[in-house]
Amino acid sequence: MGATDVSALILSRIRDVPDYPKPGVLFKDITPLLADHDAFSVVVDELAAGLEVDKVVGIEARGFILAAPVAYRCGAGFVPVRKKGKLPAETLSASYDLEYGSAVIEVHRDAFGPGDRVLIVDDVLATGGTALAAVELIRGAGAEVVGVSVLLELAFLKGRSRLSDVDLRSLVVV
Ligand code: PRP
Ligand code: MG
Repeated sequence: MGATDVSALILSRIRDVPDYPKPGVLFKDITPLLADHDAFSVVVDELAAGLEVDKVVGIEARGFILAAPVAYRCGAGFVPVRKKGKLPAETLSASYDLEYGSAVIEVHRDAFGPGDRVLIVDDVLATGGTALAAVELIRGAGAEVVGVSVLLELAFLKGRSRLSDVDLRSLVVV
C-alpha cells in the first residue's frame, strides 16, 4: 500500500469531534480507526516498518494502544512511560508544559540496558511537549532514541520544530 493510500485510509477512520474537550477545540478521535482491524493493522505495520530496535516506548495513555503492538511487530520489548506516581519501582522523571501548569511523566530507572535502541510511539504530536519530555527521559536513562513515530501530526502546532534532533515520523499530517 502506498503512502497516499495509507494516509487516506487513516484519515477516513479518524473522527473529528468539535468542541471537545472544550469549546473551540476540534478533537481527533482515533477510536473508529482502532475498531477497524484492517486500518489498525496497516497503522501498526507502518509504524514498525524498517526499524531495528530493542525497546518500543509507549506514552500513557493513548500511546500504549499503538506502542504495544508495534513492539510485538518489531520483535522488541515494550516500555511504558507513565504519568507521575503510576510506576511502582524506582523512576526517572521529566516535566513538560501544559496550557495551564505542567505535567510529569516517568519511566523505570532500570527499563533499558546500556545503549538500548529505543523507538517512542504516541498517537498524536501536537505541541511536541510530551514527545520532547519522553526523549529527555529515555536519554537520561542511558538509552539511544532511534526515533519518535506518531500516527497523526498536527502541523499547525509546530511540535516538529521542538524535536529537531530526532528522527520524527508521522503517518498523517494535518
Ligand atoms: C495527548 C496525545 C499526546 C499528547 C500530544 O495526550 O495522546 O500524548 O496529548 O500533545 P503535545 O504534543 O502537545 O504534548 P494526553 O496528555 O491528552 O493524554 P492521554 O494520552 O492520556 O489521553
Ligand atoms: Mg497522550
